[in-house]
Amino acid sequence: MAIIEFPKGMKWGAATASYQIEGAVHEDGRGLSIWDTFSHTPGKIINGDNGDVACDSYHRYEEDIDLLKELGVDVYRFSVAWPRIFPNGTGEVSQKGLEYYHRVVDKLIENGIEPMCTLYHWDLPQALQDKGGWANRETISAFVHYAETMFKEFNGKIKYWITLNEPWCISFLSNYIGAHAPGFQDLQLATDISHHLLIAHGKTVKKFIEMEIEGKIGFAPNTTWLEPYSNKQEDIDACHREIGHYVEWFMDPVFKGEYPRFLLDWFEKKGVTLHIQDGDLEEIHQPIDFLGINFYNGYIARYKENEGLFDFEYVEMGYERTDIDWPIFPEGFYKVLTYIHHRYGNVPIYITENGACYNDEPSNGRVRDDKRIKYLQQHLTALSRAIESGVNIKGYCVWSLLDNFEWAEGYSKRFGIIHVDYHTSERTKKDSFYWYKKLIANNWFEM
Ligand code: BGC
Repeated sequence: MAIIEFPKGMKWGAATASYQIEGAVHEDGRGLSIWDTFSHTPGKIINGDNGDVACDSYHRYEEDIDLLKELGVDVYRFSVAWPRIFPNGTGEVSQKGLEYYHRVVDKLIENGIEPMCTLYHWDLPQALQDKGGWANRETISAFVHYAETMFKEFNGKIKYWITLNEPWCISFLSNYIGAHAPGFQDLQLATDISHHLLIAHGKTVKKFIEMEIEGKIGFAPNTTWLEPYSNKQEDIDACHREIGHYVEWFMDPVFKGEYPRFLLDWFEKKGVTLHIQDGDLEEIHQPIDFLGINFYNGYIARYKENEGLFDFEYVEMGYERTDIDWPIFPEGFYKVLTYIHHRYGNVPIYITENGACYNDEPSNGRVRDDKRIKYLQQHLTALSRAIESGVNIKGYCVWSLLDNFEWAEGYSKRFGIIHVDYHTSERTKKDSFYWYKKLIANNWFEM
């Protein structure tokens, strides 16, 4: 038995995102988002599911915040639906939309929970997509205006802001692989979008600083880790390309004001040229207060000519997998955190998402999700190693508070520490909820 203890002041939290939990998609003047369109397009989502009702958190936010209170979290990471604030992406602001988030934020503060607000967790207003979405530089200005509106409105109430959740998913997963909205398959488009997203991020941070908003701002890229199958240089390089596509591609411009040469060259080889205009890199390269890191899985991989975008293949090592078929690789969590620390210095890091998909159902009112508890124990041990190694970890948010609409997987994949019955919206706390509650109360757990 080992005791895994965390530093004093470590902030514990839970995370969700607007489209995944809110429902009420036609209520109070909310405009359509690309996820409404995508989820209502036949064949895009498993079982034809959509987020029309989701966890109905739009109506049940009080119950959800009571659950957060019972859990004892310091922080709640949620996202704002841009089309609730600007139903058309720009133009007139919706008071009803702002009022809803005021109710949520006020209730959090009343309960002593720090709101951590993500401005963009993928629900782009459809009206902007109709004009080219993130491929159109006008979307950047629309985003900055939306962010400015939120800053002004919530200054002094929300003290933690995240510009973008997982820019890799917004660009490459959604516009090259095509698995997420808007579902395009075009590498040049996806690469341009990744650049525009970074500009939107940088301009928003600049605005935040100029407006002297009280609090801290950062962004939350997703990460993974690929361990080379052998020590051959070609295996090492192949793994580095894939890791770099999540880490260096999005973090070098922010922290260093430049794109990684090895990836620019690789994209050139694939016929893709990044369209950088004068001043773009300066806009992106703004000082951020913290880095959010999302981590779920990792792999062993090796070089394979002409395989995928980066010439590598995964090697099956028999590692256990969660119910979404992702290999469990806590060592990768430690590695990617120390890698980031080494590359970008002592930036404060919040783990903005980490968690596991297991589809356990209630039986006599109890959900015995031991595998999720084990996953969390393993990853939190890796996190503790990273802290011991000097990585500046400030907090951790479990993904997710609730089972919810898991994007292209619909309701078929459950990540919550609270079970949601999608017929009745009833919430049932899982064993992992109680386990996490105890960890939060103690600031340590037994492994
Ligand atoms: C996203 C979440 C998602 C989770 C599990 C992340 O990619 O930010 O919205 O539900 O991972 O797939």
